[in-house]
Parts: sequence; structure tokens; C-alpha cells
Amino acid sequence: MYVLGIESSCDETGVALVKAGDQPVPRLLAHALHSQIDMHQAYGGVVPELASRDHIRRVLPLAQQVLGAAGLPLDAVEVVAYTRGPGLAGALLVGAGVACALGAALDRPVVGVHHLEGHLLSPFLSADPPEFPFIALLVSGGHTQLMRVDGVGAYELLGETIDDAAGEAFDKSAKLLGLGYPGGPALARLAEFGDAASFALPRPLLHSGKLDFSFAGLKTAVRVQLGKLGPNVCEQSRADLAAATQAAIVDVLVAKSLAALKASGLKRLVVAGGVGANRALRDRLDAECRKRGVRVHYPELHLCTDNGAMIALAAAMRLESGRAEARRDYAFDVKPRWELGTA
Ligand code: KG4
Ligand code: ZN
Repeated sequence: MYVLGIESSCDETGVALVKAGDQPVPRLLAHALHSQIDMHQAYGGVVPELASRDHIRRVLPLAQQVLGAAGLPLDAVEVVAYTRGPGLAGALLVGAGVACALGAALDRPVVGVHHLEGHLLSPFLSADPPEFPFIALLVSGGHTQLMRVDGVGAYELLGETIDDAAGEAFDKSAKLLGLGYPGGPALARLAEFGDAASFALPRPLLHSGKLDFSFAGLKTAVRVQLGKLGPNVCEQSRADLAAATQAAIVDVLVAKSLAALKASGLKRLVVAGGVGANRALRDRLDAECRKRGVRVHYPELHLCTDNGAMIALAAAMRLESGRAEARRDYAFDVKPRWELGTA
């Protein structure tokens, strides 16, 4: 079964082709991505209307590119999958509209996928795929969640952020430090030159005994420290503050993940979403989990942030487990706000 996946929920247009059914785990045949980062950079964040317009421009050429790379004609596609939500309404509508048009033209079913389910399952495309059950740490620009995952569609939310997401904490702190958008990778790069011990930043809810997160206070603490440093802050202090910010976020993410593993008795952790690309987070998790006999699985680095491969994969895994709604009415809808695990 060839599944074409289209991702357009935010600022990346992603298209991919996955083959499922002939092996235990679906295989990625080809994928293509266009990032809108350069376009939004001038505004310091994503401009929804510009995002939608750019998705319109990119999605069909990317689909052609993917099919060309896979060496397959368009009518080889057997299922068209798209991100149904959550995300920017206009951006989601582009992917949904194109997917439904392709489905109708090819007389093939379409499947709407939850963006976070795509992230959650993305490590199944890696060279070291996980096995169910596992604890998942989902850390993206909009979400920070710990979940117990017993199978495709069997997701139990254990804890989540009560305010900012981990990615947002990176992005907002980076903005205060004068780094561009998206701030996560830029802050991580600056942090390499800094000493995290130079600033004592809060670790909110670290000892709450619960698995919820709170990151809103962190950016305030960064703002206060920057205020103390004054307008002529030197490069070393900025790097130190970046390192301290990253360490505070990583500490909390690692501690809560370990607590979730301990409470569940599970020995497997999956880390997904854009922040999962963070080297400091990976190093700490690897070290702490090794000590405890826990295996950690990540998506391939280039599939950590948004992409079409995870959408095609999630649709394929859902279809294979009999949990997907493959629609042929082509009356597409999108769900800009959508809790994972609800219809
Ligand atoms: O999953 P994703 O691509 O999009 C959403 O679904 O939100 O995640 C994007 C987030 C952004 O906040 C970005 O700053 C963050 O992931 N991010 C990182 C790194 N790479 C991406 N944060 C820290 N370190 C990184 N290396
Ligand atoms: Zn995402």
C-alpha cells in the first residue's frame, strides 16, 4: 500500500510517500520539505496568511518531486493522508484541500491525521524502531506532553504543560536573547559556548510530584536576568544565559520523563517533536536512561521537526491496525484545536 502524506499545519510544507503492508513497519520511499522559516523570519514568528499562501505554492511541486524520487506515477498512490489538526486553520485547509482533490481525482480514500500522532509514531521510521508499550515525551513548539502508548491509537495522557510548551520556552527565551525565529536551534547553538551554572534559573514544578510542566516563568526569569545585565550585555553572558535556559528546560523534561518511566514500570522511552532534536536533551536522556536500563528511541534527526513522512506513516499504521477512518466523501474538514485521543 502506497500512502502519500501531506503536512501543512504550520510553517513547513512536507510531502512523503510511504510503503506499508509488506514489512512489519512501513518504509519511507521519498520525502520532500519546504521550510518557510526564511519568509517568516522578518516578522519574528509565523504569519498565518503568508503560511497558507506558501503552502499553496509548494505542495504540488513537492508531491511531484516525491513521486519522481520514488520512481512512481501519481496513480500508484493508494491512500492520501493529510494533517487534519491541530495547527493553523488556513494552513491546514491547504493540505486537506489538496489531499481531498487528489483523492477524488484518483478515486482513492483520504485519511486525516492528528499532527501529534505523526510526531509520536515518527521513530517507527528510524533505523531503531521502538516496540509498544512505551512512554512518549512529545515536545514541539505547541505541545509538551508525557503519554503512555500501548499501541496505535492507545494513548493515555500522563501529564502536559499548563502554560507554555517546551519549544515555546526555547523560542521566547531566544527572542529575548536577540536570536532569530525559530529560536530553539539558535539558542542551542549559542548555549554550546556558555556555562549553565552562571545563572540560577527556575525549574518550575520540578518537585510537584506530578507529571505536568510549566515553562511560562522561565522566560520571565530570562527577562529579569537580561534586565540586570543591561543593554550592553556581552557575548559570553548571552551564551551563559542561553546555556542556563537550555539546562533548566532539559532538567525538567528529563526529570519528568524518568518519573513517568518509574511510575509505569516501562523500560522504553520515545522522544518526538521539534525539541527532540536538541542535543543537550538527547545526551542527558541517553545518559540517565542507560543508568536505569531504559531504551530511548528518537526519530531520525531530519524527521524530528514537521514533515510529511510522519503523516503518511501515522495514516499507514492506523489503517493497518484498523483504526483509521479512510474517507471517500472528500468533504474535508480540519481541526485547528484537537486533543490527541478524541475524535
Ligand atoms: O515539532 P515542531 O517542528 O513543530 C510543532 O509542531 O510545533 O517543533 C518546533 C519547535 C520550535 O519551538 C523549535 O524552536 C524547536 O521545536 N526546536 C528546537 C530544536 N530544533 C527545533 N528546540 C531546541 N533545540 C533544537 N535543536
Ligand atoms: Zn510538529
